[in-house]
Amino acid sequence: MSTQLDGWQRTHNLGELSDKNEGQQVTLMGWVQTRRDHGHLIFIDLRDRFGITQVVLDPSQSKDVLEIGEKLRNEFVLAVKGTVRRRPDGMVNTRVTSGAIEVIADHAKLLNGSEPLPFQIQEQTEANEATRLKYRYLDLRRPNLKDNILKRILFVREMRRALEDEGFLDIETPYLYKSTPEGAREFLVPSRVHAGKFYALPQSPQLFKQVLMISGFDRYYQVVKCFRDEDLRADRQPEFSQIDLEMSFVDREQVLTTMERVIARAWEKSTGKAVPLPLPRMSYDVAMEDYGCDKPDTRFDLKLQNIAPIVEKTEFKVFAQALSTGGIVNAIRVPGQAEAFSRKDLDELGEVAKQYGSGGLAWAKVKEGKGQESWQSPIAKFLGDSVVEAVSKHLQAQPGDLLLFGAGDYRTTKAALCAVRLELGRRLKLTDPKTFNFLWVLDFPSFERDPESGRLIACHHPFTSPRDEDLHLLESEPEKVKAKAYDLVLNGNEVAGGSIRIHNQALQSRIFKSLGLTLEEAQSKFGFLLEALKFGAPPHGGMAFGLDRLVMLLTGSDSIRDVIPFPKTNKATCMMTEAPSEVSPDELRNLHIRVQKMTLE
Ligand code: AMO
Ligand code: AMP
Repeated sequence: MSTQLDGWQRTHNLGELSDKNEGQQVTLMGWVQTRRDHGHLIFIDLRDRFGITQVVLDPSQSKDVLEIGEKLRNEFVLAVKGTVRRRPDGMVNTRVTSGAIEVIADHAKLLNGSEPLPFQIQEQTEANEATRLKYRYLDLRRPNLKDNILKRILFVREMRRALEDEGFLDIETPYLYKSTPEGAREFLVPSRVHAGKFYALPQSPQLFKQVLMISGFDRYYQVVKCFRDEDLRADRQPEFSQIDLEMSFVDREQVLTTMERVIARAWEKSTGKAVPLPLPRMSYDVAMEDYGCDKPDTRFDLKLQNIAPIVEKTEFKVFAQALSTGGIVNAIRVPGQAEAFSRKDLDELGEVAKQYGSGGLAWAKVKEGKGQESWQSPIAKFLGDSVVEAVSKHLQAQPGDLLLFGAGDYRTTKAALCAVRLELGRRLKLTDPKTFNFLWVLDFPSFERDPESGRLIACHHPFTSPRDEDLHLLESEPEKVKAKAYDLVLNGNEVAGGSIRIHNQALQSRIFKSLGLTLEEAQSKFGFLLEALKFGAPPHGGMAFGLDRLVMLLTGSDSIRDVIPFPKTNKATCMMTEAPSEVSPDELRNLHIRVQKMTLE
């Protein structure tokens, strides 16, 4: 039996037929989603990316229908010729677009068979992620994954339209690049032609887009792959996609307003939900103080509150020690939820805090009464009547409230309470995935100290302009310098980041120096940029959207792996192709490489 098309031509896809097509002769092709054998008739749900159409195989019609009808199994590839018929009353399927009709086949052709499947092609699957990734081509047939990819395509299309309408030009930049660290570890590509030399895959097109501004290509954009050899998580991949862009002759305000027009338009077109403009804004300092992180989820409140002045004099060792060593004491008031949290729940919240390095999480359930009596809490007796009352007053606590406390150094305590707050949000179901809270976070510090090496590093990247009013602090108190940098946050996820750049060669050199680069190092790594900045560089700035994260949120997915056609695992492997893999000694020799496995400290 031929599995070739033999001149058969598909007339319709499997989502487009309706009762308007009644009586028409059609040729359909697709995959067998299900086969139901009713003895004298076989019903097939035939599927393609557009939808599902019911095909009725009547073995009395023709020999090929009889033979093929017997053989069909799930995911066989089938072609049929037949007539569109309105389904009998009561048999209409309103869940699929072509549910009002069916096609009575008079001829059938089997285009291919399929082995028994490792998992069924349906919305819910029991298969674990490793199996799904190994058989990614099957996983992509499942409706949810397919819909995610289609939504991604639509979203990119809308972003492109919005950007093109704002005058952005789509310009490509190279993937084989020079090693110019931006923060993360790089992927290196050995050169065959130049023994011992390496290209690096770009962590982003940052410097090329700046050079494009110097070339005069005002308003660049690109949907582009970026490569970072980082520790992976649900929202991080070693290669991921950015919608990257840059503008000339703009200040921060113009970048922000242009970008919010672009994202609001594309988001509304893709989700049907209005994004009210202007987007809210928050300074980095306020975000850290109130939410404990630079990407606050503003779908719910439960802010962190400083209670240091109230508990200053307490002898409770956890609080006293934190304050005497320059740390902080913060509280979260959870209105009316005291009874919702059992001892076990509170222990679990404590574990969350501990995962972030905190010594623990103190708690109190507020009751009627006075002094210590008004708190059910393991720490009430250590704090004493007056402090308990003062804390309650400061937090405006009411009977029935739950209070949580964190104490310790600033960084750890904020991070721990931020995680506790997010866990509270999840447990109390305050994080509706259909609510989209965009937020600009502004005025990031220019620099931070690497906790391990103590070295100064750029918070965004070294090409970010400090605020003019902070320039005088660059050498004396660099950690106080704020940058013209901004992030776009959506429901607690950093979905874009950018800045106004340095367009002045002398200032760029000063920044490299502050970051501990010698003149020679700066020249060898970024010589081309320093050179280019000498030839009439215009003021410029821009940003990059994290495409995968945006689509993850848009589709309500838990991981960016569910919105990337071919993602890598958390161990940076591809289960389908089994990359990375060893290469032959010949290939290594050509690349002038000898592999020596070493144990890293
Ligand atoms: P940044 O490093 O902030 O900026 O990256 C921009 C956005 O990309 C997303 N992102 C990631 N998504 C998935 N996996 C990753 N490993 C990953 N890393 C980052 C985030 C982030 O907000 N060149 C600058 C942009 C600029 O200044 O214009 C840059 O790359 O959503
Ligand atoms: P301990 O005296 O260590 O048992 O601590 C008394 C209470 O303080 C317990 O409920 C601990 O969970 C809590 N606790 C310990 N360390 C911290 C911390 N860093 N911040 C807040 N509470 C803490």
